[in-house]
Amino acid sequence: MKATMRLDKMLGNLGYGTRSAVKILIRQGAVTVNGKQVKDHGLQINPNQDEVVLDGETIQYRDTVYILLHKPAGVVSATEDNRDRTVIDLLDPDLTVLAPFPVGRLDKDTEGLLLITNDGKLSHELLSPRKHVPKTYRALVAGTVGPEDGVAFSKGVTLDDGYVTMPAQLRVLATMDPNAQGVATAEEGGHIKEMTDAIHFAPKPEESISEFTLCWIELTIHEGKFHQVKRMFEAVGKKVLYLRRIGMGPLKLDESLAPGEWRELTEEEVESLRNYRKDGNG
Ligand code: URA
Repeated sequence: MKATMRLDKMLGNLGYGTRSAVKILIRQGAVTVNGKQVKDHGLQINPNQDEVVLDGETIQYRDTVYILLHKPAGVVSATEDNRDRTVIDLLDPDLTVLAPFPVGRLDKDTEGLLLITNDGKLSHELLSPRKHVPKTYRALVAGTVGPEDGVAFSKGVTLDDGYVTMPAQLRVLATMDPNAQGVATAEEGGHIKEMTDAIHFAPKPEESISEFTLCWIELTIHEGKFHQVKRMFEAVGKKVLYLRRIGMGPLKLDESLAPGEWRELTEEEVESLRNYRKDGNG
């Protein structure tokens, strides 16, 4: 990558105004580079070495951004949409100016981990069908999910369009049968809480939800077909009522983020994604 860039481009990229607004600021003497006032907006600078100060504020240059969003239901995984709010609308303007986009898609009603970045190369690698990056979901399913479903998913099931899925790993974390008066059974109490929260959250199907055995499951898939988790359960005669992604490759959903909240990835997390693709894990 070129080490130098025009001063007006640097400030424009960082969201300090359009190129022409930035030119005016520079001409007005609002900018110093390495302590000296500059009036030449086309000055070549090294944004990683030169100290650029605008109206007394030192400008930190960055050209990449990596965001971990806890996607809420009701927003679409797109950069623009005519009808719905997008995941990009949830971010701060000083990040959206860097033109980030979601790495893959979650359905509008799906919650959970969504990586948002402007690193096209990393995104391409993570989404490449050859990499088989694992994605882990938790779901509330209407119907009894049993060992036979685990076997079917581990072998691959045939979706409605005839596609046979790659082997996937299924665990049943908690179960509630219709006669149990709202009491779920699970090995860990935490799973019961998650399940009951999901029951309250899930949109109610036409039939009363209490007529079904409900299962709280965890499923890891190694590909990303359209509506894949929902269609896999349809293939075995069950319905996903609520879906949350909790992991993608080495990234885990940050439990401290409520739906709609986000944070930037730590350097370690970015490195783990890079190393992940380098090692060809998955
Ligand atoms: N599978 C689905 O069915 N929906 C999602 O949003 C993600 C995976």
